[in-house]
Amino acid sequence: MSTLFRTKSVEQSVRETEEPGHRLRRDLSALDLTVFGIGVVVGTGIFVLTGRVAKEYAGPAVALSFVFAGIVCALAALCYAEFASTVPVAGSAYTFSYATIGEFPAWIIGWDLILELALGAAVVAVGWSGYLVSLLDSAGVHLPASLAGEHATFNIPAVLIVLAVTALLVLGVKISSRVNAIMVAIKLSVIALVVIAGLFFINADNYKPFIPPAHSTPAVDGWKAPLLQVLSGVTPVAFGWLGIFGAVAIVFFAYIGFDVVATAAEEARRPQRDLPIGIIASLLICTALYVAVSLVVVGMQHYSELSESAPLADAFKSVGHPFFATLISVGAIFGLTTVVLILLLGQSRVFFAMSRDGLLPQWLAEVHPRYGTPARSTIFMGVVVALLAGLIPLSALAELVNIGTLFAFVVVAIGVIVLRRTRPDLPRSFRTPLVPLTPILAVLASVFVMLNLPVETWVRFFVWMLIGSAVYFLYGRHHSRVQERSENSGRVVI
Ligand code: ALA
Repeated sequence: MSTLFRTKSVEQSVRETEEPGHRLRRDLSALDLTVFGIGVVVGTGIFVLTGRVAKEYAGPAVALSFVFAGIVCALAALCYAEFASTVPVAGSAYTFSYATIGEFPAWIIGWDLILELALGAAVVAVGWSGYLVSLLDSAGVHLPASLAGEHATFNIPAVLIVLAVTALLVLGVKISSRVNAIMVAIKLSVIALVVIAGLFFINADNYKPFIPPAHSTPAVDGWKAPLLQVLSGVTPVAFGWLGIFGAVAIVFFAYIGFDVVATAAEEARRPQRDLPIGIIASLLICTALYVAVSLVVVGMQHYSELSESAPLADAFKSVGHPFFATLISVGAIFGLTTVVLILLLGQSRVFFAMSRDGLLPQWLAEVHPRYGTPARSTIFMGVVVALLAGLIPLSALAELVNIGTLFAFVVVAIGVIVLRRTRPDLPRSFRTPLVPLTPILAVLASVFVMLNLPVETWVRFFVWMLIGSAVYFLYGRHHSRVQERSENSGRVVI
């Protein structure tokens, strides 16, 4: 039993980042990290989900859902920031858990992060293909529905975008971050345009009622009902305050990714100082953008009329400005590209860290001699994500991405409390304020949002975790380098 909870010391983790052949290039500044954060966070959530959520769950109060989701993330961000400044090693929540709770929980978190990062990247790639189809449609080029877009049998644009960003990631983290910065600038300009131009088309009547009265709806029934509503025996409803909370669990997707900044820890020049800045700054900027955009969009068009696939663009069409709509689609295409890019960057770093530890085959942890990137794990994950995005209609799985991320938040928050007790001596250049209160609130808030996810998402999550546990017992447990070390030194590391 004790071997399941053997930990890897923080010193050991840091030492291994310097091993020849396993050393990543340190190239990123605080600004790069913040731009990374914004690049990965702003995407499908704001470009697509706003409309669906306002229409089905929250009405104009979708802005409140964004605020609540932002608060949940802020609590978690304060915990991630302390960890990232204390254990500046690739792998984020996986590495943190290995240093605090133990090997098996760390594996479970690494496995869980696949949901956030790889599945997230695939979901966004499918959304990217949808925007491309609609943009080409308006230019008079019609791609066959079987080969592009959400309902394709083999979604070629989704596969191509994943392979293209994979190639970029292999070439280097600095070049990836340059390309990212350009696309983020385009994406932010488009969002600024939506907010500023949109202000002129707001009709105050669209805000009334701001919180539409709750009523039951088939959209949130059965397997689709939030677990909390089922457990507490209430008839599932949309709108009203319950609707707003249900919506938090869905718009949470819009925030996914700020934690990815922590996965780039080994590539930051001054990780102790810059990671907390990158994590917290990108989260604050994104929250402000989301609240502004959602208020403008529900002000431009009555929530019941919002489009579910391209709400920002269609709101402008509804007020007679299709040109803006085209511009927004172009912004979305660039915007979603960076989301895929950085989610994949995060995934390859987590895989890299797990294979360097021996929990996955170690050949995946080889660093490219010329580019200084974890080329093998990047290519491996890129191909897996490309196939996923090409073959599976993924929008139904977006909530699985959310539950995976929230679970990681819970573990990281607990880890902060554990590490303060077990290693009070470690230098922490950023300290989470009010420990243990902040981490406890982070846990409670994350669990509350998880409970607001549909029953079917919970079932899928458990199945995924069971598969992960089986993989650990069949492979990782016997190949772990921590285990090798303890055997060699003739003692058990607990
Ligand atoms: N937060 C990212 C998005 O909304 C995953 O696309």
